Amino acid sequence: DPGIATYDPGFVNTSSCRSSITYIDGDKGILEYRGYPIEQLAEHSTFLEVAYLLLHGELPTQTQLDEWVHDVTYHTFLHENCKQFIEGFRYDAHPMVMLMASVSALSTFYPEAGDISDPEVRQAQITRLIAKIPTLGAFVFRHQQGKPYVYPDNRLSYTENFLAMLFRMSEPTYQADPRLVQALEVLFILHADHEQNCSTNAVRSVGSSQVDPYSAVAAGVGALYGPLHGGANEAVLRMLNRIKTTDNIPDFIDGVKAGKEKLMGFGHRVYKNYDPRAKIIKKACDDVFEVTGVNPLLKIAQELEKIALEDEYFVKRKLYPNVDFYSGLIYEALEFPPEMFTVLFAIGRTPGWLAQWSELVQDKEQKIARPKQIYTGERTRDFIPMSER
Ligand code: SDX
Repeated sequence: DPGIATYDPGFVNTSSCRSSITYIDGDKGILEYRGYPIEQLAEHSTFLEVAYLLLHGELPTQTQLDEWVHDVTYHTFLHENCKQFIEGFRYDAHPMVMLMASVSALSTFYPEAGDISDPEVRQAQITRLIAKIPTLGAFVFRHQQGKPYVYPDNRLSYTENFLAMLFRMSEPTYQADPRLVQALEVLFILHADHEQNCSTNAVRSVGSSQVDPYSAVAAGVGALYGPLHGGANEAVLRMLNRIKTTDNIPDFIDGVKAGKEKLMGFGHRVYKNYDPRAKIIKKACDDVFEVTGVNPLLKIAQELEKIALEDEYFVKRKLYPNVDFYSGLIYEALEFPPEMFTVLFAIGRTPGWLAQWSELVQDKEQKIARPKQIYTGERTRDFIPMSER
């Protein structure tokens, strides 16, 4: 349709935009961060090393990585007022809403953050956001659970520290099983970026107005919350719990075919073949279940996948498991409640959002977001007095 925007550098967020961060081939199931295949990064890298790669374009030297880890580690604390802000929410407020509001509120503690033309100011906010978002995620979880906050323990690694802030009670230190820490690291790596998905588009669109990065990332959190996007991992678990046993799968599949509901965790805007991340997560399930015992819902998920991969309805529509289909099973095995699953996705995606934001604000050719419109309404007509309506 000639009315639909084709590539135009003057219009951010229409049908395409320019980026050098993540490459996806949806037909071949390829995902690369700055040219490195996701399979190799998941196997050999750490989440903060991948965050450095996404932000700077190259894998760090040991000195660069040590400095980066040090900087992130020493910015994990929140201003004490953040606690009062979170305490203003009802106990049953959804963690994603509390996270979105808290990320936005962070900008009030760093008024200089709006000076995005200064590279040092940009880097300082990027470091703060990556460092503090796990603390915010843990604090909203503890608030929801009615438990006291656990402050960061900067002797721990990024992911160990997050788990300790979530689950530590009266023991002086929280010792997470290294296999579970590694599984969460891999999940964070797999979620770190995914080119121009809905929430990244929101970050770029809001960021194109030259607002501070906290406000842009808060917009990304809001988009990710939706059940068609990051909220799908929570929806998958609720779907599996609703199906309950493999005996109920045929009726459920009939309901999907009748258009009564979607098979959550299946399908993708870009991958019309298997999502490469789903393959890696499925393997991570085995590693986690060695520690926690097999999640009884795994059998239902595996049977659903088997049927969907053979059933004409799904094959014709190229519906394969995506990143959200198996991740929820791991999160549940790690004792996260379903409403925390998308918070975990947001923590993983934060480096990608910030890399994309940083790329956008430095690209002099990319202007403020203003997607083209195809007008389908009435054209010029005269006002009608009330007596004649
Ligand atoms: C993420 O973009 C990204 O990169 C996102 C993400 C990332 O890392 O940022 O990968 C993360 O959001 C993964 C997707 C998580 N969402 C879900 O699992 C929700 C369930 N999936 C669907 O809602 C859907 O598949 C989408 C939204 C993900 C993709 O939708 P598309 O590509 O626009 O597909 P479509 O809506 O055009 O559907 C094509 C057909 C339709 O049937 P017909 O109208 O042709 O008869 O497939 C059907 C749809 O009804 N369909 C499904 C389905 N997904 C699409 N039918 C049943 N179950 C599904 N899940």
